[in-house]
Amino acid sequence: MNAIALRKLTLALGSRIVLADISLDIPAGQFVGVLGPNGAGKTTLMRAVLGLLTPKSGSIRVLGEPATRGNPNIGYRPQTASSLPGLRISGWDFVASVADGFKPGLPILSAAAREQVRRALERVGAEKLANRPLAELSGGERQRLLLAQALIGDPKLLLLDEPLISLDPRRQQEVVELVKGLQRDLGITVLFSAHELNPLLNAIDQVLYLGNGQAALGPVETVITPPVLSKLYGAPIDVIHVQGRIFVMSGGHDVERDEHRHEHGHDHPQAHGHESMSQEDSPHV
Ligand SMILES: Nc1ncnc2c1ncn2[C@@H]1O[C@H](COP(=O)(O)OP(=O)(O)O)[C@@H](O)[C@H]1O
Ligand SMILES: [Mg+2]
Repeated sequence: MNAIALRKLTLALGSRIVLADISLDIPAGQFVGVLGPNGAGKTTLMRAVLGLLTPKSGSIRVLGEPATRGNPNIGYRPQTASSLPGLRISGWDFVASVADGFKPGLPILSAAAREQVRRALERVGAEKLANRPLAELSGGERQRLLLAQALIGDPKLLLLDEPLISLDPRRQQEVVELVKGLQRDLGITVLFSAHELNPLLNAIDQVLYLGNGQAALGPVETVITPPVLSKLYGAPIDVIHVQGRIFVMSGGHDVERDEHRHEHGHDHPQAHGHESMSQEDSPHV
């Protein structure tokens, strides 16, 4: 069975075509890394799979059924952290806020819903965060809670939109390993978007690379190649392998890194490759 099946799918936002005539199948049970430059359509595709965006044409099937809003089989971790509520609420309340029957100010949940929250916290190793206010938590700890939220309802498909943003390389690896363990142990499908391939290399079964309105799905060896990526970037791309890491280069620049450099801020300067580049040269925020 396919977790996701796209047929001649065209997605548009206003007059802008984001993805054009995409057909592909993602088998159930896989860990798929979703990559591509800023604006390639990673978030838009996830929103369409969630039924939050109606295709301009073509179709999306999720676990054998047409995509619909509120699909209980999908767990979603949105890209923007603006969904983080007041920082004084506890880890427990944050995760419980997406459980059935939750009402703000009325922390009365059924025993079944409380069990869901407990289990979700346990699965992401966040039991100890239950009683702590969000304000006190590190970026990595908040990521765990966001992941616990996405696990409420026992989804069969997890859509995780850029969960590595603003984490340092070690925390990034922890999140990837945590998600990999969930995917394996629960037998679920994971779409995990990121702006750099390397943190995902050891975890993913396939990569879904978006760009130029197009998509390429396949194992790293077949997708992360100069011909495929040159088409998706609309520019000549070199692929450099160094000590088990892969760099996507255009005209001597690491495009995955340049594209998203501004999103890292000063969180992990060791990841910045081009310190000579001035702030003015960076893409807009
Ligand atoms: N609400 C919107 N209205 C019009 N265009 C949008 C809107 N949101 C995003 N876009 C544009 O759609 C394209 C795809 O965006 P997005 O899916 O967020 O890309 P990604 O997640 O890969 O960075 C981008 O060019 C973006 O500027
Ligand atoms: Mg996005």
